Amino acid sequence: MYCVRPITADLFWVGASDRRLAQFENAYPIPRGISYNAYVVLDEKTVLLDTVDQTVGDRFFENLEHVLDGRVLDYVVINHMEPDHCAALGELLRRYPAVQIVGNAKTLTMIGQFFDLDVAERFVTVKEGDTLSTGRHSFRFLMAPMVHWPETMITYDETEKTLFSADAFGTFGAQSGGLFADEVDFQRDWMDEARRYYANIVGKYGPQVQMLLGKAAKLEIRTLCPLHGPVWRREIGLLLEKYRLWSTWTPEERGVLIVYGSVYGHTQNAAEILASRLAEKGVTNLAMYDVSVTHPSYLVSDAFRFSHLVAASATYNMGIFPPMETFLLDLKAHALQNRTAAVIENGTWAPQSGRLIRELLESMKNITVLGDTVSLHSSVKDPQRQALCDLADALAADVQQQ
Ligand code: FEO
Repeated sequence: MYCVRPITADLFWVGASDRRLAQFENAYPIPRGISYNAYVVLDEKTVLLDTVDQTVGDRFFENLEHVLDGRVLDYVVINHMEPDHCAALGELLRRYPAVQIVGNAKTLTMIGQFFDLDVAERFVTVKEGDTLSTGRHSFRFLMAPMVHWPETMITYDETEKTLFSADAFGTFGAQSGGLFADEVDFQRDWMDEARRYYANIVGKYGPQVQMLLGKAAKLEIRTLCPLHGPVWRREIGLLLEKYRLWSTWTPEERGVLIVYGSVYGHTQNAAEILASRLAEKGVTNLAMYDVSVTHPSYLVSDAFRFSHLVAASATYNMGIFPPMETFLLDLKAHALQNRTAAVIENGTWAPQSGRLIRELLESMKNITVLGDTVSLHSSVKDPQRQALCDLADALAADVQQQ
């Protein structure tokens, strides 16, 4: 049975949520599920903006059929060709054989790559700034390459001032009744997942997101319709400001993220001594994780949030403890920059992890490694305890600088 939400008099949400999928993109845990948003505009012509993932196809088609109420579907706009939004395209074309597909030249190439379909004759190719009138509504198409794939574009309804923003401004998390950001407590219940989504999905593409923000700044936006998560119709500036910070790798908060990789608990002990001293010094905005326990996507997300990062790692096979190496490489892959870091290493006979972590951090843009590496030989002894306190004092002074 359909589950549709009206957004305006002629704009409808026809998406669906999935709470069964364990990992988004088979890579990121989504314990709160994910929504796949799709939208219909009923005008003299009917327009569908994007489709959904295959797993929720049945719900989506029920919703679409209900909203169309017997009308033909004239256009489907494909803002993004990733299969979480277009896996249902083949079935859509089977059900609505007269539908015209609106996308850019790269969209058309990707349709050919994902499907055995010849859609050239029904494809309407658009480029930057092109418009499509459907009666009362006029849609303008703006390219948003690499937010999150090269073919990504966004669509602006000039009539109702609605921006269909593709992956931008999306979040992990299934819809639980509330469709609009003002129907949920976004700051309390969604912001962490919005950050984790941003950091991991588009975090690498800061300059491209900046370009999109520049285009959005020239538009009057009454409603913001992303492909995942809540729809925005109030206080849109809250999320725009977060995107400004995230896309420029500007820390949201002065505070310290401590991530440790510990085999027998001694490296963890060092991290906890450091954290305690930081708190005593007044730095209470702290987060600490065991890198072997917490999925890297959460750590990458907090690295986008905090101004300071501490990596504490055992030496393993003469290298960095593997889960720690995975995390740090993930930071590098997401181009994390503009941070201050500190390093703690451990090794019973030949500690190496500190040097290697330092090299890795220093190969990233504008990461300042503070102080000397605190080096443990198996466990924390008096000299290392003192070194940890000294490092905490230096970190605290740096965190509290502004
Ligand atoms: Fe939600 Fe890049 O797909």
